[in-house]
Amino acid sequence: MRKQIAAANWKMNLTYQQGEALLDDVLDERIKLQPHQQVVFAVPFPYLIMTNSGLSDEKNYFAAAQNCSDKKAGAYTGEVSVEMLKSIHVGYCVIGHSERREYFAETNQSLAQKTVLCLEQGITPIFCCGEPLAIREAGTQNAFVETQLQESLFALSSEQITGVVIAYEPIWAIGTGKTASTEQAQEMHAFIRSSLTAKYGAELADDISILYGGSVKAANAKELFACPDVDGGLVGGASLVAREFVQIIRALK
Ligand code: PGA
Repeated sequence: MRKQIAAANWKMNLTYQQGEALLDDVLDERIKLQPHQQVVFAVPFPYLIMTNSGLSDEKNYFAAAQNCSDKKAGAYTGEVSVEMLKSIHVGYCVIGHSERREYFAETNQSLAQKTVLCLEQGITPIFCCGEPLAIREAGTQNAFVETQLQESLFALSSEQITGVVIAYEPIWAIGTGKTASTEQAQEMHAFIRSSLTAKYGAELADDISILYGGSVKAANAKELFACPDVDGGLVGGASLVAREFVQIIRALK
């Protein structure tokens, strides 16, 4: 069974102390994960070392970076390289979140670089894709998302693509309280899987986890995650509230 993942994306929220308290509250629930279930916390860079050590005794709980540089190393003040993440044992990295694409001008091409750098270091990229509202209203969301996949992922080998997690996050659903319906989510996830099948074959496509993101909360997680092609969620706002996120973890199939 492919991995089912509840990924928290704290974004630029919480002081270190608040984050530590939140993590403790979630871990205190002692949720027993099955071997195919994982929980990931995408925390701000300065918290990664401590988050990793706080999770070291927890099976199937991992820390993630929210971004990385598309360059290997060098004179890029303020950037964080994938090699640096690897050196502190970070296992996951969110790549190409729509906020990074919009506010930091990240392109499909630079995200292709980031993805390859992560894979070279054995870090699992959580590659984000998803369309803005105008594209959804025009009904061209499939072509839009397929271009994102083609330009950022489809140069990867079969072996490399199996190391990628995809997160479909329709931009109109992020932080808006407006979730995609289960039909909209399932339809897009099935489309993404069919694109992966066309490129890499069904067996491989079937193994790739595709998370849904965009106003996931305790009240809707169960029905979203129940969709056959939805393999968990990338959760922003609701991951900042322990009792919400705990219920989202419990909703994993
Ligand atoms: P949200 O954010 O859950 O607050 O909509 C999701 C995300 O941006 O990853």
